[in-house]
Amino acid sequence: MKNNIALIGMMGSGKSTVAEELAKIMADYSLVDIDCEIEKSTGKKISELFLKFGEQHFRMLESEKIKKISAGTKQIIALGGGAFESENNRNIVNKNCSVIYLKATSEEIYNRIKSEVHRPLLHKNFSVERISEIMQKREKNYQKADFSIITNNKSPKEIAAEIAGVLNDKS
Ligand code: S3P
Repeated sequence: MKNNIALIGMMGSGKSTVAEELAKIMADYSLVDIDCEIEKSTGKKISELFLKFGEQHFRMLESEKIKKISAGTKQIIALGGGAFESENNRNIVNKNCSVIYLKATSEEIYNRIKSEVHRPLLHKNFSVERISEIMQKREKNYQKADFSIITNNKSPKEIAAEIAGVLNDKS
């Protein structure tokens, strides 16, 4: 097993909640959420950063944070849904983390996030089709994870147990 565990997947795939559950099982690991770290160090919400400075600026902050955090050890790292689109981020994360892709259908993601307002990429055109379009574009990079876990109809606790099992088998 590598130094850290990283969770990747679309917004709404449950990365943050699953990371919390996984941290309960792997008690010697600390929990880090890259979006939260960016919000802490800038003092601004992600949606505000997108609005004020644009996506490119956010991606730069995201890459800096990923680089810094990945250098640590024994962390469960929840990455933002777009973080794995950058080759540089992928190289750093794949080198330092066992990477788990949480895979859900676009319908399930739609249902999970339809009542939320803080997703800047979905402010316009929010629909199952829009989510599906983004997912299809990202799928080939998500597939570069070490393991894929199908999350449909599973609770965060069940998913976390499945991840712990998969990592245990491989170590
Ligand atoms: C994004 C996902 C968000 C956040 C930002 C961009 C994306 O994180 O990083 O809004 O490009 O899919 P979550 O996946 O945690 O929602």
